[in-house]
Amino acid sequence: MKRILFVNACMRGPEQSRTWRLCRTFLDACRARWPGAEIVERDLTAAPLPVLTARLDGARHARLAQSPGDPMFAPAREMAGAELVVIGAPYWDLAFPAALKVYLEWASMLGITFGYTREGQQVGMSRAAALVYLTTAGGPIGEQNYGFQYLQGLGRMFGIPAAHCLAAEGLDIQGNDPEAILREAEQRAEQLARTLEDPR
Ligand SMILES: Cc1cc2nc3c(=O)[nH]c(=O)nc-3n(C[C@H](O)[C@H](O)[C@H](O)COP(=O)(O)O)c2cc1C
Repeated sequence: MKRILFVNACMRGPEQSRTWRLCRTFLDACRARWPGAEIVERDLTAAPLPVLTARLDGARHARLAQSPGDPMFAPAREMAGAELVVIGAPYWDLAFPAALKVYLEWASMLGITFGYTREGQQVGMSRAAALVYLTTAGGPIGEQNYGFQYLQGLGRMFGIPAAHCLAAEGLDIQGNDPEAILREAEQRAEQLARTLEDPR
């Protein structure tokens, strides 16, 4: 394992975000398993990327051939080059914060994260062996895990063969013990880091 990409959409920041705590536990366990791996963080908490307008989308496709190193391709390049993609995002409105969607639109770039064969078949161009999605929710998620389901599909489009979701649920339900729920989820996160598929 050479490079782990951590996409941080834990909008409340390290001081408050329970999702961030889950991510930290998972990444610490990854460090223990792969001590030589570099962890590159993409911090989305200040929503640093512009919403992809038609004008920007046109500009990026025009620019790829002339200026392949342009910073506008950084999200796609880091997504394509990582061997493990870790995404942390709270469960917001049945999915995840909009800052993550904006990032994913920048990461989804023809010629970098996906392409087409001569026969017109879509092929993924990412080297990652797995995508791990970490989330926490105020109530139950159940079947309405739309954020993860979407990421599973997008991961497949990028050529990432495996996707895992790790969630701590019911944190805001009165009478629940959020600390106990989080601790149990942290144990599952450590276990997941120990058993993840190795990079191809
Ligand atoms: C804008 C917003 C939307 C939310 N939407 C949901 C939701 O649809 N379902 C739910 O169970 N909890 C929802 N919650 C609660 C969060 O999922 C929960 O508090 C989560 O643990 C927050 O993660 P954090 O501590 O990492 O910020 C929402 C919270 C916010 C701030």
